[in-house]
Amino acid sequence: MAKPKVLVTRRWPEAVEAVLSERFDVTLNPADVPLDQAALGRALAAHDAILPTVSDRLPAELFVPGSLRARFIGNFGVGYNHIDVAAARAKGITVTNTPGVLTDCTADIAMTLLLMAARRAGEGERELRSGNWTGWRPTHMIGARVTGKTLGIIGFGRIGRAMAKRCRFGFDIDVVFYNRSTVDPAEAARLGARQLATVDEVLGISDFVSLHCPGGGENTHLIDRRRLSLMRRSAFLINTARGDVVDEAALVDVLQRGGIRGAGLDVYENEPRVPAALAAMDNVVLLPHLGSATEETRVAMGMKVVENASAFFAGQVPPDRVA
Ligand code: DGY
Repeated sequence: MAKPKVLVTRRWPEAVEAVLSERFDVTLNPADVPLDQAALGRALAAHDAILPTVSDRLPAELFVPGSLRARFIGNFGVGYNHIDVAAARAKGITVTNTPGVLTDCTADIAMTLLLMAARRAGEGERELRSGNWTGWRPTHMIGARVTGKTLGIIGFGRIGRAMAKRCRFGFDIDVVFYNRSTVDPAEAARLGARQLATVDEVLGISDFVSLHCPGGGENTHLIDRRRLSLMRRSAFLINTARGDVVDEAALVDVLQRGGIRGAGLDVYENEPRVPAALAAMDNVVLLPHLGSATEETRVAMGMKVVENASAFFAGQVPPDRVA
């Protein structure tokens, strides 16, 4: 029987590409050039499966009746708001993601951003590398203490919980969180955290706010101008979730007016574009969407896609089906 025809939109870890090549009639992208909308449309028409990443937009317009060969989309990543899953589902396409394997690494990046923003690590490194450091002095580059502060988590899923653990047990931080559904208080307490009823309440009492909810839908601009204004002037906003969860223009404005003390960002509304105004601010730490970027995690993410695609083409329900 002919192997399913599968297109991988970007370059993946070598070990994963090797397994994909054994199992499927696979088209790889060794040059790693992003596909535009027309190329993605052609890919959906010519392959049984496409394996995209967060850098590929798959809106409803791409799921054109009559020209679809694809029956499976195996996303390399846990977040899938770049795919119109309802439109895919309506066309009978199964969509999967890669939960679980990037939890710790993403929480580590959130922790990195929190520490860097609070302790002015990016700014300090820039000063030293540019040859402008004049030596130790009591008033030099004073940051904010992290230990013993209050962290507010928005979204208490796997990554939010991993962040809570790091902060509570590593830094003696008081952790509060907002989550759409109620979390068992005993489970929250085990992680040293307690649930509050609203996002607004969390924002109002936190020294650090870390976002861990999915992007898209009702979470688009969840952190808008009004909510930013509820944060303490001394607080920091950390975003490793999705860029669209924050109204980026409002964030720039609030930072410029000193409405909050700083931010640590790994994700942006229009990646890879980052507003020049953000890059100009020393109190903002900017990373290029590195949350899951470790060797171990990227291989594990790829292997999850292999597992899902293999199950699908074997006629089983893939373990990480989202549509
Ligand atoms: C994820 O898995 O959602 C990462 O942000 C990469 O897409």
